[in-house]
Amino acid sequence: MLTPILAIETSCDETAVAVVDAGYRVRANEIRSQVEEHARFGGVVPEIASRSHLQALPGLVDRALSCAGVEPRAVAVTRGPGLVGSLIVGVAFAKAFGRARGIPVHAVHHIAGHIHAVLLDRPDWEPPFLALVVSGGHTEIVRVPRFGVYERGSRTIDDAAGEAFDKAARLLGLGFPGGPALARLAAAARAPVERLTGPLMRHSRDFSFSGLKTALRNRLAKEPPMTEEARASLAASFEAAVVENLVAKTAAALDETGEKRLVLAGGVAANARLRREMEAMARTRSVEIAIPSPLHCTDNAAMIGAAALAYGRGPMDLSDSALASWELQ
Ligand code: KG4
Ligand code: ZN
Repeated sequence: MLTPILAIETSCDETAVAVVDAGYRVRANEIRSQVEEHARFGGVVPEIASRSHLQALPGLVDRALSCAGVEPRAVAVTRGPGLVGSLIVGVAFAKAFGRARGIPVHAVHHIAGHIHAVLLDRPDWEPPFLALVVSGGHTEIVRVPRFGVYERGSRTIDDAAGEAFDKAARLLGLGFPGGPALARLAAAARAPVERLTGPLMRHSRDFSFSGLKTALRNRLAKEPPMTEEARASLAASFEAAVVENLVAKTAAALDETGEKRLVLAGGVAANARLRREMEAMARTRSVEIAIPSPLHCTDNAAMIGAAALAYGRGPMDLSDSALASWELQ
């Protein structure tokens, strides 16, 4: 793979551009969040997202290139999965940029990007390992025997972990996006937490979070929290239930596969309680764990450059288009 790489990520509501050099060195990492544009709708509006990417991307590329101070010799872009209108903006820009400069353009799977984010903080990290990917759209355990090969294990049968955080946050009257807001509220809790659970959380290898959300909704309807302290305690209960479940299922997967190395990735991996408890679980099993820094957990383009660098396949054709759904394999 030729370096430096100009990396572009526009799969959801962050317009992100990075320049990644040999050795996974990040020379520029620009992220423009659209949160404010979507907040009043309580979620991401796809049409607004695409237009916003279109507006922001050229300026971010200029900024990343001047900040990096190097000429890119390859381009990496998220081809999918994600919002198709948003992906198209990044893919079309990447192909045009590559064509104009006469440099190759490599397609990257968004989830592969999250998994490879670990290399930005641990350039020496190597397969084989198990990865738990927890984002707004995905919750899955992936075995990586070597870079570029992904064996998918447990996954969610309903809501993704991040989606569950976002929905719970809405029930608790917190803004969008809910995950970080719920975590902040939970951190303020002093009283011991109550036990919340969903009916399908324990009985399968796969994940299920929608029953937990319903349990929270019922709990709020039965006895609305009157004080800020009571609300914080409920937020902590919800967070604890999600974290405990993610840790237990990851532990089971480690035991089953015998893997001795673990990566925690995706936006929810920015959650402090999850980081702490996953690290503790790994320690008791003598499993080596790597978690990207919080900035590299949530959507960014440096992780897309890292994935291209680690396992880059042949360049894209001009006719290759964005893929709203795309199996990681
Ligand atoms: O990976 P990501 O940035 O975007 C997707 O690919 O979906 O993940 C975003 C998700 C959102 O659901 C957000 O609420 C959640 O990650 N999230 C968190 C935290 N930071 C982000 N959830 C819990 N605690 C956090 N600190
Ligand atoms: Zn993501």
